[in-house]
Amino acid sequence: MDSTQGTTHNNNQPNTMTRRRLLQVGAGTLGLFATSGISLAALCPSTTTPRQTRGPFFPYDDVVSFPIREGEDTSLPLILSSDNDLTFVKGNSGTAQGQIVYFRGQVLGSPSADSKVCQPLPGATVLMWQANSSGRYNHKGDDSAPHEFPHPKTGKMIERVHDEHFQYWGKAITDEHGFFLFKTILPCFYPATDDWYRPPHLHFSLRAKGHQEFVTQTYFKGDALPNIGLIQDLNAKDWILRDPNISPVQQEQVIVEFQPDPMGTLNDGLIGTCQLLIPS
Ligand SMILES: [Fe+2]
Repeated sequence: MDSTQGTTHNNNQPNTMTRRRLLQVGAGTLGLFATSGISLAALCPSTTTPRQTRGPFFPYDDVVSFPIREGEDTSLPLILSSDNDLTFVKGNSGTAQGQIVYFRGQVLGSPSADSKVCQPLPGATVLMWQANSSGRYNHKGDDSAPHEFPHPKTGKMIERVHDEHFQYWGKAITDEHGFFLFKTILPCFYPATDDWYRPPHLHFSLRAKGHQEFVTQTYFKGDALPNIGLIQDLNAKDWILRDPNISPVQQEQVIVEFQPDPMGTLNDGLIGTCQLLIPS
């Protein structure tokens, strides 16, 4: 298969970062915020995160095409049964195709009426699901879509194929400061209609104590990303991101910049950070 985004590559390197190691790194990355000298309260975003559609590809058990379950508890739904590293599937020997990205988030609750301090939400369950590096979801609803589609700029056909080494969805639990971390790959754009391509995006469902389920999507920017020019074009024209009910400030809040890790720690991919302020 040709590269789906022009620069997709196979990460055929051994998994030097174990699951335990990833979780440790997740905790360590708090340093980016905690050592900045800025209090968590001062980092409260200026607006709440916009709600965005769950979309048609949430991985309910009865609709996934290739069930992935890393945990042993079969009473759990699949979406809760795999961890926060989507770049390989436990028990498989290979690694997922695509540009590795780390998504570091912080889940916050709105300040109370008498306070301007955002409250980090510890213990929140963060579910994330996405397309793979060729724009395909692990979902029966996506299987009937055309197996190839034209690149929106070049017209070159892109084959949408299942990646058996990609985890497609994962779960993270926020720590005492509301932080969570996913290791995944940059998803490919894909056609939503004949004249609308979804830009690369990640889907999130957040469940925090005292809050209703919060569902949103995040997008990508950053010069280090492959095909950033195309990504920016697609971001600008996306009907979901540019919903007129979402303010321009809210739109920018969910376009996350990815760059080489400024800490120099997670050097096998690019890193983006995002605060998610759940409306009360
Ligand atoms: Fe999607």
